[in-house]
Amino acid sequence: MDNLIKVCEEYVKKDTINENTGHDYYHALRVYKMATYLSIGKDVNEKVIALASLLHDLDDYKVASPNSKKVEFFLSQHVDEETKIKVMEIVNNMSYSDYLKGKKVDSLEGKIVQDADRLDALGAIGIARVFAYSGKKNRHIYDYSFDDTSAIAHFYQKLLGLDSLMNFPESRLIAEERIAYMKEFLRQFFKEF
Ligand code: ADP
Ligand code: NI
Repeated sequence: MDNLIKVCEEYVKKDTINENTGHDYYHALRVYKMATYLSIGKDVNEKVIALASLLHDLDDYKVASPNSKKVEFFLSQHVDEETKIKVMEIVNNMSYSDYLKGKKVDSLEGKIVQDADRLDALGAIGIARVFAYSGKKNRHIYDYSFDDTSAIAHFYQKLLGLDSLMNFPESRLIAEERIAYMKEFLRQFFKEF
């Protein structure tokens, strides 16, 4: 298992070497770390947690080409069919855009990795990622609107409400703490703007 994780980490690292919208190797590692932490006291399949955390963004429409099949490719080469199905099920249903389409993650491992991914959109790291993503997409920092595509608008359209979407109370607590920090940032931002 340890070797499999190392091989998977290397695969993600190599694939995301030019990724600079906040969906890079370090995001994958943070999600894995947080998912491991959220797994404490729960009866989880650690291999599924590790693989889903590390691979979850490789085929995301925001970062990959359409019909990208990097996750399936890796899993087909390295794990049994049952593990592959479990990981694919998580990766294909866990994103915020999946949630907006009404998709749900059913497994315990999926709910944990989903919370870990959402927590990485919050706090200081979350703030850094919004601006990285927005800059890469040539969007404004702020344009006196909460309904457009600016980075600041994204806080109000999505990020500040993520606490209510957490699957576990312990994730919600971390989310609330990180959102409080973001609100402090916004207070200062508007004071200076
Ligand atoms: P998920 O992985 O839950 O689907 P996303 O990939 O949509 O989440 O978002 C990951 C990160 O990308 C977020 O933390 C956010 O900062 C950034 N992001 C996504 N969409 C936007 C947007 N429209 N404007 C600014 N940042 C965005
Ligand atoms: Ni992610």
